[in-house]
Amino acid sequence: MTIYRAQLLDTPQDPFHGGTLRCDQDGALLVAGGAILDRGGYCRVRAEHTDEEVVDLREGLLLPGFVDTHVHYPQVRIIGGLGMPLLEWLDKCALREEAKLADPSVARSVATEFLTGLVGSGTTSALVFGAHFADAVDDFFVQAAASGLRLTSGLVVGDRLLPPELLTTPDRAHRESVELARRWHAAGRVRYAVTPRFALSTSEEMLEACAQVLRDVPGTLFTSHVNENPVEVADVMRLTGAASYTDAYDRHGLLQARSVLAHNVHPGGEELNLLADRGTAVAHCPTSNCALGSGLFPLRAHLDAGVAVALGSDVGGGTGFCLLKEGLQAYVVQRLQPDGLLLSSAQLLYLATAAGARALGLEGEVGDLSVGKRFDAVWLRPRPGDPLSVGLAHAQDADDALAKVFTLGAPTDIAGVWVDGAGGSNASDKPGHRLAPEPAGCQFVRPSRGSGLGAGRGLGAPDVESASSRRTCRRGGNQIRPR
Ligand code: GUN
Ligand code: ZN
Repeated sequence: MTIYRAQLLDTPQDPFHGGTLRCDQDGALLVAGGAILDRGGYCRVRAEHTDEEVVDLREGLLLPGFVDTHVHYPQVRIIGGLGMPLLEWLDKCALREEAKLADPSVARSVATEFLTGLVGSGTTSALVFGAHFADAVDDFFVQAAASGLRLTSGLVVGDRLLPPELLTTPDRAHRESVELARRWHAAGRVRYAVTPRFALSTSEEMLEACAQVLRDVPGTLFTSHVNENPVEVADVMRLTGAASYTDAYDRHGLLQARSVLAHNVHPGGEELNLLADRGTAVAHCPTSNCALGSGLFPLRAHLDAGVAVALGSDVGGGTGFCLLKEGLQAYVVQRLQPDGLLLSSAQLLYLATAAGARALGLEGEVGDLSVGKRFDAVWLRPRPGDPLSVGLAHAQDADDALAKVFTLGAPTDIAGVWVDGAGGSNASDKPGHRLAPEPAGCQFVRPSRGSGLGAGRGLGAPDVESASSRRTCRRGGNQIRPR
């Protein structure tokens, strides 16, 4: 067993419905076998477990691992393709890039780069839009499983309005999807999601084939795009004859509790009711919506209708992997709308963690740092003297500190990432570095600031207090202090 001593922040109760930020300023998590067995003030937990090793993470903050509900792995190299609306960006940027994954060696290195970006940004769970090529998706799953991250992905399918190399047929899509889903769904931490690209690129027969995969491999998830851009929406309505964009999926039985639709920037009122009825979640991707000029997300309308919303980075339409940036952009987008919500930092954290866990059906396992949950966590430790470090030292309270984290935090502040209590490397200075988890209980520490990987006592690593060097109730580090 290991005790992690840290300032703990999480949102076990939905702050859109009365929950508040939970903070243990000098907190402790007792972790064994990847699960959180106890949580409380450090003094109490330490006194009850005097022989256990203590990992000292008091510098900075420990948050639940981020949950990204919409991110495209084949697009890691095209982040930053600014200046185009959705359909032009797909045509000139994204689809051309995705065609390159027909080459297995390209697909392999893109997958490695993607996983590095993900873990380096503190994301521990994600719903990942796959590639159009079955071999590439199979290899992605191999790497995803080895990474130790909690990932759900699938073969992207489409049979119209795509470059010829990306097209498939409903029969082939069904066969390849079922094969991949049977191999990978619920294999350790990875799961399968049925993934038609969007209604524009999928015929009725293709969506029917997708529905068949959901039936053939029970428990698989479903994901696609919806109502992202006004021109796209008009094209879908013209082509499908569906009552709405949402209906184009629903009439094939594709919307269920484990379905996630990305964007939904331009929904009709009936569509929101339909999504709420089906229990389908929406992945809100604010940096993508802004960069592609897709529009301002109507969060209040979603919440009023009872639609579950969580954050997605939408790499590479989005501007990076880090859900802290998505949270800040979500805040800004609401600020800019006459009826926008004034989002609190607790709500931003919820959208980046527990809401995502719920959207992906993982709420029993992750999303907060409660007893009984798996130890999926991210340790933010800004460099001394950095604006975030200064801000945290002068924060008025935990909510204020968290607001500073969303405003100033970046992947460079992420010093450690755990999934199921095991460390996944987010080292960025070595090409081809290992992403595989350490045995349960180990932690990864970014090596760039000092003496290297591992739980040593160098500048870059947390203190590990063993039974032989035990101290009680030591305070210090960069804590949140009342002014
Ligand atoms: N709609 C269909 N494909 C895509 C994609 O790759 N990115 C975004 N943002 N929207 C899409
Ligand atoms: Zn997308």
